Amino acid sequence: MATPILRVHNLTVIYPGVHPVKALDNVNLEIYPGEFVVVAGVSGSGKSTLLRAINRLAENDHARIEGEIYFDGINVLKASRRQLREIRSHIGFIFQEYNVVERLPVLTNTLVGSLAQVGFLRSLLGRFPKEQIERAHRALVRVGIPQHRHGDRAARLSGGQKQRVGIARALLQRPKLILADEPVASLDPITANVVMNIFKKINEDEGITTIVNLHDPVLTFKYGKRIIGLKGGRIIYDKPISAINRETFEEDIYGTVDGEG
Ligand SMILES: Nc1ncnc2c1ncn2[C@@H]1O[C@H](COP(=O)(O)OP(=O)(O)OP(=O)(O)O)[C@@H](O)[C@H]1O
Ligand SMILES: [Mg+2]
Repeated sequence: MATPILRVHNLTVIYPGVHPVKALDNVNLEIYPGEFVVVAGVSGSGKSTLLRAINRLAENDHARIEGEIYFDGINVLKASRRQLREIRSHIGFIFQEYNVVERLPVLTNTLVGSLAQVGFLRSLLGRFPKEQIERAHRALVRVGIPQHRHGDRAARLSGGQKQRVGIARALLQRPKLILADEPVASLDPITANVVMNIFKKINEDEGITTIVNLHDPVLTFKYGKRIIGLKGGRIIYDKPISAINRETFEEDIYGTVDGEG
């Protein structure tokens, strides 16, 4: 059997405070290269915390993280600053709220994805190598942003277009893993499907391992090739799509309507 690209072992994440919150409770999971996984669950089930623990963003919220996470064989929670930079350079992270710099052009926003390759100083000076600039144009066209929009400020784009820029920026990293936290939650249903199809196609064409958090059961069932259900910080469901019973899937993951979720 192949080696997992990501292995999470007994992961517990606690947000401290007067009333500490155990956002993840003893989570175990293995993700294999090329998988397309949807993490599903109601609001507060721990989806964001899981993705944010994987690249150690959760530490920004002073979360206490216990257990082990191995990415590509590296012990993430024990990584040095240099190793962490290396790990993050291989992980494309996509946020619900797009995270584009509104006043900068679409192309520059995309080029940010090549920072690790180009170097920070050079990028500050706007001296991106020609090859990276061409890659950025190609990545943008690939996600459906036509050439004539690449010079526009990001502020002029629609939500769906901003999210495409976020994906193009992640692609520029040549990521081994894409983590997307509710990437379509702010979009209308049609645009949400367009964006989900971009993730699907990238995964199928390039084999980039992808984990997407979704709260919408319809999108979860439609796009997930493996679905992991979280509830109260625990994994309560983990199945390949071929083994999922469409009739009971919603209730299995989200509980009955009168349940607290
Ligand atoms: N920065 C934080 N400080 C304290 N508690 C937090 C913090 N972030 C999340 N939590 C708590 O941790 C739990 C899990 O939150 P998380 O954001 O991971 O859930 P989620 O499944 O992503 O929810 P949503 O669908 O609303 O985005 C919740 O109880 C939440 O209130
Ligand atoms: Mg969330």
